[in-house]
Amino acid sequence: MSASPATIDRAATDRKPITVTALHEHKQLGQKLVMVTAYDYPSACVAEAAGVDMVLVGDSAATTVLGLDSTVPATVDELLMLSRAVRRGLRTPFLVSDLPFGSYEASDYEAIKTAQRFVKEAGAEAVKLEGGGIMVDRARAIVQTGIPVVGHLGLTPQTATALGGLRAQGRQAGQAVQLVNDALALQDAGCCALVLEAIPAAVVEELMPLLSIPVIGIGAGSSTDGQVLVWHDLLGLLDGRTAKFVKQYAHGHHDAVAAIQSYADEVRTGVFPGREHTYTIPPDELQRFQGSLARFQRAEA
Ligand code: KIV
Repeated sequence: MSASPATIDRAATDRKPITVTALHEHKQLGQKLVMVTAYDYPSACVAEAAGVDMVLVGDSAATTVLGLDSTVPATVDELLMLSRAVRRGLRTPFLVSDLPFGSYEASDYEAIKTAQRFVKEAGAEAVKLEGGGIMVDRARAIVQTGIPVVGHLGLTPQTATALGGLRAQGRQAGQAVQLVNDALALQDAGCCALVLEAIPAAVVEELMPLLSIPVIGIGAGSSTDGQVLVWHDLLGLLDGRTAKFVKQYAHGHHDAVAAIQSYADEVRTGVFPGREHTYTIPPDELQRFQGSLARFQRAEA
């Protein structure tokens, strides 16, 4: 019997659920917004207990959870399932779900229909989509149906091939100006917030005074209104290289391997399970049971 949802400790918190209005209030008050990605019920419970402001069910799930090479193959159904699990573990943070590659770009109609699924079927409070240009129209179309949209500029992993790989963006003046134009266009389209990924801090510092919506950075320096990190990166859950902008706050992979090795050692040496992990039977019941075993033949060893 493993821990059931009811036995997992939910933070007893009197914090109010974070709304779009609260995101703007945080910005106005200069209170930094804290966002993490999460992909399942236990991670959502941890995010809730830790008191983060925003949770993103990112399509980074494709690489962190599904073991794929990029975010491109992530599907709507996969992200819907993960978003539903995260929803069940959250009470306070603002829940954003990523629209996966190929689920919103083709038309405003497609974008609206996909966004509606995340709100209706998974309880997302907003959807996030990547890119400027034509994606500004998609963002506007979704916003006009009453669904909050978070834009995402800079390094946009869904179109990393076209960007020349997973690399910082806006390092040439022309590119930086394009970023400013796209950010302003997404704001004008009604986006409730913006994620800026892998952009030189100096470029972001120039952009920030031009924007009135909350901006969440990842590899975008410290001038943004908040920060987001990928769950597996910040907890060190995956072995291997991480991006320059990642800070690991735990060594989850190392600790998990050590824990499983201890378990394996204890199983192999008979230390686990101990008395405290086993059930008992009243002695008279055991005696009766043993008496009734006489008619069974013992198996050959
Ligand atoms: O998919 C994701 O995790 C993201 C964050 C990196 C912002 O888009």
